[in-house]
Amino acid sequence: MNMSYAIIVHGGAWDIPLDEQEGHKVGCLKAARLGYHFMDEGGSALNAVEVAVRSMEEDPVFDAGRGSFLNSEADVEMDAMIMEGKNLDFGSVAAVQSISHPVTLARRIMETSPHCMLVGEGALKFARSICMETVTTAELLTNKEFERWKRIKADRDYQVRRIFEGDPGKLEKRGTVGAVALDRYGLIAAATSTGGTPNKLPGRVGDSPIVGCGAYADNDSAGVSTTGLGESLMKVIPARRVCDSVKNGMTPLDASIETIQYLKRRVNGLGGVIALDHKGHMGYAFNTPHMACASVDVNGKATVFI
Ligand code: GLY
Repeated sequence: MNMSYAIIVHGGAWDIPLDEQEGHKVGCLKAARLGYHFMDEGGSALNAVEVAVRSMEEDPVFDAGRGSFLNSEADVEMDAMIMEGKNLDFGSVAAVQSISHPVTLARRIMETSPHCMLVGEGALKFARSICMETVTTAELLTNKEFERWKRIKADRDYQVRRIFEGDPGKLEKRGTVGAVALDRYGLIAAATSTGGTPNKLPGRVGDSPIVGCGAYADNDSAGVSTTGLGESLMKVIPARRVCDSVKNGMTPLDASIETIQYLKRRVNGLGGVIALDHKGHMGYAFNTPHMACASVDVNGKATVFI
């Protein structure tokens, strides 16, 4: 039995304004500690990443669950996935509405349906069939988000790329969330959840629920969660790339750096990754001005940074 357990979480990679940085740090640290606590009590890495991501889905500081960006028709549509590294099982959900915790729906799809991924109305129908509580768009929406949506609608020059690369003085923003954990039984799990990008077209799906793009977990190598501009991330399958590089001998840190360099070089992409291998070694990289991140390592030491 591997007695080491650790967790790393992120709260999005983008241009996080100074006055929002503390909220991001607090939310990330709370999520990492919650996940670690579960494993401390003997819980699995799957429980740890689910509880960590749920905590950030509840926190309107982040673009996931409550606090999600609105799409062009003022609706909330969310994407999420969760994966475990023993059997490579995963569950994912895309463009789903009216759910407080898409990561939990993704897990239920993985564990109780014959499928890996459900989208839109079908995902909601499945959630109702397993008696998952549903909420209205109004319950997922914050005033701040509605005000932002109105300003975006009035801004003829609005370009979503600018929220990732930095645009001083522009609209306040928020980011995708994710977590990767290694438990004492040697299981690696990863999860990612997002409200997508502001003003996206209805039905738009980003990288987060796509296996190998938004997350990947393989006990033989590492677990990874990604964040950033989905339209660029999806093209390079970054989570799987980090895992493959770790399998080929790179450290999680070097593999993360190499993947973000490749994202930039190959598709001029913007984003970040977090990674954790089967020994509890962590890595992260991003090419946006900031990435909110927190971890608790194999020695129980908590770290948070932006
Ligand atoms: N990375 C989140 C998204 O683009 O939807």
